[in-house]
Amino acid sequence: MDVLAGRKSERRPIWFMRQAGRYLPEYRKVREQAGSFLDLCYAPELAADVTLQPLRRYDLDAAIIFADILVVPHAMGNGLSFVEGEGPKLETVRSSFDLARLKPGLNSTQFESVAQSVARVRRDLDASISLIGFCGAPWTVASYMVEGGSSNRELARRVAYEGEDWFKELIARLVENSIDYLCLQIEAGADVVQIFDSWAGELPGALLSEYCIAPLREIVAGVRARFPGVPIIVFAKGAGYRHGEVYAGTACQAIGVEAECSLEFLQSILPADAVIQGNLDPVLLLCSEEIVRRETLKLVSTIPRKRHIFNLGHGIKQQTNPDILTTIIETIRGFDRG
Ligand code: CP3
Repeated sequence: MDVLAGRKSERRPIWFMRQAGRYLPEYRKVREQAGSFLDLCYAPELAADVTLQPLRRYDLDAAIIFADILVVPHAMGNGLSFVEGEGPKLETVRSSFDLARLKPGLNSTQFESVAQSVARVRRDLDASISLIGFCGAPWTVASYMVEGGSSNRELARRVAYEGEDWFKELIARLVENSIDYLCLQIEAGADVVQIFDSWAGELPGALLSEYCIAPLREIVAGVRARFPGVPIIVFAKGAGYRHGEVYAGTACQAIGVEAECSLEFLQSILPADAVIQGNLDPVLLLCSEEIVRRETLKLVSTIPRKRHIFNLGHGIKQQTNPDILTTIIETIRGFDRG
């Protein structure tokens, strides 16, 4: 919270995307007990427990609530299931006729369950640790709704180029529902929120402005109007040289960065008070301790801790050895002690 507010911080904040997940044996155990992934997302007691699992193992500065970006379309009445080994399966939205079946997510059991998980975690979490709420960005969520699941998103991109009214309306509805969902998480106790635009990097030219930056600006403004003190992190994954436009255009407090983009370059294009989050390659975590230590030191020595939130450039991979996170955290703490 200090770094996000531009205050002097004792520590370089550290958290990992997907820090609660399948690489942890204790997660796999609770997941088995819950049944399906979605059952786990909507069981507040279990979701709160898995949110806290990485905090019990590691010296982290933030917890991220255990849920999924597809909770929003699900709460809007769009069919969703997770098929083991295949990822999400959604009812497709490809016309104004399909749009007509969607409703507001507010007061849905889905939103209410996540709010309850947030409240439980905030109650059980040490006050010095921040709790991050999140949602998916309209473009990324819409791409899953158009495609019906994980894919190369070529159909979604075609639809974006065509820019028909129904697609614009879908984006607008996702903006509204994302604002409500983030505000609900803040009311329940989230200290910070992050918006995941995982597929932003696939939008060329004007499409990035129209379907990534503009909707994110509306979400940031909508949340800020109700909760002016809550910082917002935008992760427009793959935006590369355009992260400067994303930062200025969305008016967020911090920019999440993919591993492919250099933090030195970003510091040269962003204003000096912009906070940067990232960006160690998740694949690096599969290497030896020695290599991980070397690359971690390289990363932290390129960016002062007053403007850096340490993270990966994308989520932790399933085959990661949990002990390597300890190596990374100890390396960073050692570096910052000088
Ligand atoms: O970071 C965290 O620890 C918080 C929890 C979290 C999850 N998903 C849990 C999850 C967060 C922040 C997400 C975000 C999310 N979900 C994104 C954006 C970030 C990114 O990865 O780009 C996206 C695109 C999704 C959609 C999604 N959820 C897919 C495509 C999949 C299947 C892929 C896979 O790894 O199987 C999921 C499932 C999912 N979400 C899991 C977890 C822990 C694995 C589910 C399981 O336990 O079987």
